[in-house]
Amino acid sequence: MNIVVIGAQWGDEGKGKIVDYLAAESDIIVRFSGGANAGHTIVTGEEVYKLHLVPSGVIYPGKTVILGTGMVVDPKALFDELDMLRGRGIDWTGRVLISDRAHVVLQRYKRLDTEAEGRRRNPIGTTGRGIGITYAMKAHREGVRIGDILEESVVATLDEEDRDFLKPYIERLRPLVVDIAPYLAANRTKHILYEGAQGVLLDLDVGTYPYVSSGYSAAAGASLGGGIGPRAIDRVLGVFKAYTTRVGNGPFPTEFRDDRDGDLATKIREIGHEYGTTTGRPRRCGYLDLVALRYACRTNSIDSLVLTHLDIYDSFEEIKACVAYEYRGKPRSDFPASIDVLSNCDLVTRTFKGWNRSIGGSGRYEDLPPEAKDYIRFIEEFTETNVDVVSVGNDRKQTMVRRDLWTRS
Ligand code: IMP
Repeated sequence: MNIVVIGAQWGDEGKGKIVDYLAAESDIIVRFSGGANAGHTIVTGEEVYKLHLVPSGVIYPGKTVILGTGMVVDPKALFDELDMLRGRGIDWTGRVLISDRAHVVLQRYKRLDTEAEGRRRNPIGTTGRGIGITYAMKAHREGVRIGDILEESVVATLDEEDRDFLKPYIERLRPLVVDIAPYLAANRTKHILYEGAQGVLLDLDVGTYPYVSSGYSAAAGASLGGGIGPRAIDRVLGVFKAYTTRVGNGPFPTEFRDDRDGDLATKIREIGHEYGTTTGRPRRCGYLDLVALRYACRTNSIDSLVLTHLDIYDSFEEIKACVAYEYRGKPRSDFPASIDVLSNCDLVTRTFKGWNRSIGGSGRYEDLPPEAKDYIRFIEEFTETNVDVVSVGNDRKQTMVRRDLWTRS
């Protein structure tokens, strides 16, 4: 069975935690897009792991993890991460594989990424990890794939700077490289988890273009970049926070404004530790945007929503969520393509009663306060999608799963 996990907002929704949770019952975990721009935090007891490239399932002994075709891989960042894991006692030998069709982030692409950002009239706020340039080179048919650098004849055609950069990694990469299509076909009876990076609204096609990343972080990316056909996907999980965050620039209709929302931005940022895993930048924070979430559900065939960070609202008297936009006096119920509309619309919000107590210790969904359940019920009705998982803290134990996700519906 194939389960796809994607972020349903602008990234940082807590995918690492749910992937880690599902990884316990997975045989193989495939990451299908992005590169070292992503940041996944996994907490197991006292241990905190911050991963950028390697799929988070690697923390589990015995699981195979794959860096898929849709990824862009910086060999230096990859081996820094793998060395860090080994140093912390995680033996990954034979368990980390890379698609021969994934693209290589060359050293100079990172430089070009930063230069291109500097030249933009409206900077995107890239992470500077060479992601956009590598995908651009790929689309331009000038990219270098992981499989290519194992062939001397191809390496010989590269510039000296690129050859020097790649040299220390070629023989280390060789045993990791695999053709994922036959590999996954041979393993089709197993439990396979497809782990997305970033979020739907940062997807190159579905997201708030041009303020997006350059990969396919939507569910379709699991097929394109994960080595399976679209009909082989059995379930799509969309992870979202009880509020919304965004790192980098671009429209964010529900972003808290000091004049309208007081100190909410600071409050959520501090309680929720909303600072970027990759760049350390403070994340922009705002209300839950149900218009955007419904758009994510529709464009990705999300079967189950996964609600995270619900506990961040524990001390709130009331909670608001956005249910429509208003632009030039007219209500808009759909998520528009126009950056101008998204940047200049007003919000129509609905207010919910807070629960005013700590929910981190609620073991089961039934134990949640009625106010929290009301909030969840409204989200389900609005998006026409079930909230099947609720997370109320960082620990694996603080996860309420309302249905067996590995059973086909
Ligand atoms: P790039 O992917 O580094 O080119 O950055 C493009 C945009 O995507 C910037 O606004 C980044 O802040 C954002 N971005 C990239 N990766 C992530 C992520 O994993 N989480 C959240 N935002 C991201």
